[in-house]
Amino acid sequence: MSILTVTDIHKTYITGKTKTPALRGTSVTVEKGEFTAIVGPSGSGKTTLINMIGGLDVPDNGSIVFDNIEITGLPQKKLSDIRLTKIGFIFQAYNLIPVLSALENVEYVMLLQGVPEKERREKSIKLLEEIGLKDLIHKRPNEMSGGQQQRVAVARAIISEPMLILADEPTANLDSKTSGSLLDMMRKMNEEKHITFLFSTHDSLVMERARRIVSLIDGVVVGDSKDE
Ligand SMILES: Nc1ncnc2c1ncn2[C@@H]1O[C@H](COP(=O)(O)OP(=O)(O)O)[C@@H](O)[C@H]1O
Ligand SMILES: [Mg+2]
Repeated sequence: MSILTVTDIHKTYITGKTKTPALRGTSVTVEKGEFTAIVGPSGSGKTTLINMIGGLDVPDNGSIVFDNIEITGLPQKKLSDIRLTKIGFIFQAYNLIPVLSALENVEYVMLLQGVPEKERREKSIKLLEEIGLKDLIHKRPNEMSGGQQQRVAVARAIISEPMLILADEPTANLDSKTSGSLLDMMRKMNEEKHITFLFSTHDSLVMERARRIVSLIDGVVVGDSKDE
């Protein structure tokens, strides 16, 4: 079952008189349960593509159907509802809330969704334990390493089991060993909880752990290979 179909999207950034084409007819389909990497050199359009899929930016033309809904052209309110209930985001710079503990950061999305406090807390503690952060649940982001912060960010993204996790170069600020173990943890969550992951990377260690690799060059998909 496909949960995402991107068809022939184009995006050109215009700054003053300069036009920068970022996506030039990008098409890709993602099935439920995939663990897929979008791979390409810097400037190939990975971030632009992920932002469009997450409804954070709008293509100039083309179509993006997510969970059977055409999301291009939807009003902001509808897009933010979709983001809150169906998509988890993991960013390169972790983006945890600095004044909240690991536990509170993970609980936060459920707070916005109106999940009762006891359930929020119990679910968050259980997940943080599962991913090896039992001893850090009351620490704030500045008391954790980059790898630990990114684990918290993964926990925050998957806690309410969204349909899709989007991660834009989640390991870009991590050393190779930490990147490897973060990816192993993401893949475990993919296998155990059947959560679909779509992430971008240009790190070959991260690529090795993907089950499908979609290659992007100059805003066009030039390759698509599955690990069977
Ligand atoms: N906000 C922006 N304004 C102008 N140009 C941009 C902007 N964001 C990205 N670009 C350009 O679009 C192209 C694709 O960028 P991006 O999607 O960030 O690629 P990647 O994530 O693969 O490095 C690049 O040429 C980049 O310089
Ligand atoms: Mg990028």
